[in-house]
Parts: sequence; C-alpha cells; structure tokens
Amino acid sequence: MPNFFSNLFSGLFNSQSKSVLGIDIGSSSIKIVQLSRRGGRVILETYGELSLGPYAGKSIGEATNLSAEKIIEAVQNLLKEKEVNATTRICGVAIPFSSSLITVIELPNQSLKQLAEMIPIEARKYIPVPISEVALDWYVIPKDRNPESEPTPNTDRDGKIVLEKQEVLIVALHNDTITRYHDIVTKSALQATFFEIEIFSTMRSILDQELTPVLLIDMGATSTKLYIVERGILRSSHMINSGGQNMTNELSKSLGIPLPEAEILKREKGLLGEINGIEIKNVITVTLDYIFSEANRTVLAYQKKYNKNVSKVILVGGGSALKGVVDVAKGSFQTEVLGGDPFAKVLSPAFLEKVLRETGPEFAVSVGVALRCLQELE
Ligand SMILES: Nc1ncnc2c1ncn2[C@@H]1O[C@H](COP(=O)(O)OP(=O)(O)OP(=O)(O)O)[C@@H](O)[C@H]1O
Ligand SMILES: [Mg+2]
Repeated sequence: MPNFFSNLFSGLFNSQSKSVLGIDIGSSSIKIVQLSRRGGRVILETYGELSLGPYAGKSIGEATNLSAEKIIEAVQNLLKEKEVNATTRICGVAIPFSSSLITVIELPNQSLKQLAEMIPIEARKYIPVPISEVALDWYVIPKDRNPESEPTPNTDRDGKIVLEKQEVLIVALHNDTITRYHDIVTKSALQATFFEIEIFSTMRSILDQELTPVLLIDMGATSTKLYIVERGILRSSHMINSGGQNMTNELSKSLGIPLPEAEILKREKGLLGEINGIEIKNVITVTLDYIFSEANRTVLAYQKKYNKNVSKVILVGGGSALKGVVDVAKGSFQTEVLGGDPFAKVLSPAFLEKVLRETGPEFAVSVGVALRCLQELE
C-alpha cells in the first residue's frame, strides 16, 4: 500500500498543517469532525458524536431542547473524549435551520444600493419580530439566462409596463440566537471563526457543481429539513415535523417495547427486519410516507413555479442511515435518489470506510462547517 496511512497520521502531528473543527449541535446529538489540508487534499483527522438524550433524562436518539449550560457541558465532554482526541479548538459552528428565517422574495429590479435600503423594509413582512432584533443577510439570485427559458415580458396583457423583477434570498437570525451561540463557544473554550446556518454547511459537503435543481433531505430526530438548491444557490427551504424519533416511537408502540430497545432495533435491522412476525418496514412506513409525500409536494410546487424539474434527491441526516431507506425513497420520487456521502470530499483511512458509509450521513453538517473553516484559514 502507498504511504496513505503515514500521510494521514503525519498530518495529525505536523504543526505546520492547521487543523480545524466543524461543530454541529443537533437536537439529538452533537457531531464534530476535525479536518486538515495536506498537499491539496482535505484529510479527516478525527470525528465524534455525543448523544444529548441523557443530558435531558431521555434516551439515545431522542431530541432535546437543552439550556446553554447543558450544551456547554456536553460540548466540553465531547472535546475531552479520549477516543475522539480533538487537538484543535479553532472551529466553525452550525446554527439550526429552525432558529433561522429564510425566504426568497421578489423585488423590482434596482441597484444594490437601493436594495440595501429596501430589503429591511420589505423583510418586515416576513419576519415576525422587530427588525432591530435580527441580523439580516441577503443575496440577489442571478437571473437564469438559459436560452430556452421564456424572456420576461415587459408589458402585461393590457399593455401596461411591468417592471422586471429580481429574486432575493433573505436570511435572518435573531440576536438572541447569536448571543446564545457566542456564549456556548466562549464557555466551551472554543475559537469560532464563524457561525453559519446548517443548510449552507450541508450544501458544501454534499453537493458538487450540479447545474439542475437538487432536493436535499436532512432527516433529523424530530424534524426533516428540505432544501432545493439550483446551481449552488438555495432556492427553497422547508421543515417537516417528523424524523427518526417518530420511527422509534412507532416501533416502540407497535411492538410494545421500551424506546431504548426500539432505537437499538431500528439501528440494527433498519427496514429490512422482522420481529415477532411484524415487518419493521410496515411500522416505519407511516413516518416515511408522510416525509416523502411532503417532500414531493415541495418538489411539485417548485416545478410549477419555475417550470423546471428537480433532477436529483439526496438523503442525509441520521434518519437516512436507516437501512433500506434509499430504496423506499426511490419508489416515492420520480427522479434519481441517492444517499449523500459527506466524506466524499475528504480523504479518510480505509479502515473507516465501512463505518463512515453507515453512520456518515449524520455528519453532513459538521463536515460542511469544517470545510469552510479550512477555506477561511487559507
Ligand atoms: N443507523 C441508524 N439507523 C436508523 N436511524 C438512525 C441511525 N442512526 C441514527 N439514526 C436516527 O437519526 C436521528 C438523529 O439524526 P441526526 O443526528 O441527523 O439528528 P439531529 O441532527 O440531532 O437532529 P436535528 O437536525 O433535527 O436537530 C435519530 O432519530 C436516530 O434514531
Ligand atoms: Mg441535524
């Protein structure tokens, strides 16, 4: 074998190559990955996960809503973990989609200066709190210059002049959310170079340069997030209140077994198993059908609005580690469906390949954050 391993491990101990952490504080677990760059390649140095359930008197896999103090305790414990051996504190941190407000609005064509004045006023219509309480960011979505698409008419049917519109992506974060994450970072002795909403992290680790619209489905514990991305730009985002924990709940109820047992069973057998004559697939299908039919509605709405087909569906998040889920999804969408591999852009040791393929989709956010952190160091 070439000196793949020696490269990997010398990366760990070489003080020249800066290492960074990507941190994802999910509702059911915290995920971290440590990356560095060597000879133009990004290297996975270590990674780890810590379930938050036990910090809230719940079991593994269950969603929590913890105080900043509890989160700090959990982050510190994960960083201390000998097996993880995180050797840097330089990091980026993901902020949950649920703490953000993201929307695409249409405005008349105008200069960036005029937009900068108009957007805070327009944004008031979409943001349920005073605008002074949020940090606002925005991005003008470039026009699709596809020669096949219809030119926008500049007069309506009655001959009246219609101003050409432009779409603007608006992102808002409540100041309290930013303060909470600052607090978590400083009290955990981390050196965060940025915060970013988890969508953008997932996009970075999972997407290549797809030219056609892609639907990303992040199946978390009690929620599933849907993002439609076109040419690297987020065009639509939604959240469904159902995820992996709902599957465990259904299994526990149907089989009359405690939640922790149902969680283990689900992770071991996935959709392929059978218990006491009951097929797991038939039990979990309730949740999956709901998630995939909502996802299909989002796809159809997008196709109708923009007259473009979503060409690919990619599943990530712990819920998508369920064995057999990609096949069920294939039957639910009329397009290509695949399981995302967050480590695809990262060089990792061969002995980890299997485990990363199985538990990998949970790390889509943390890998994406760490990739940006590396870029920012350059
Ligand atoms: N191997 C597996 N098979 C099936 N389900 C799994 C597996 N591993 C994890 N899960 C499920 O994935 C869910 C957690 O996913 P994930 O870690 O992406 O959520 P989270 O990031 O904590 O939540 P959120 O993003 O909603 O805040 C849990 O419900 C867990 O049961
Ligand atoms: Mg998550």
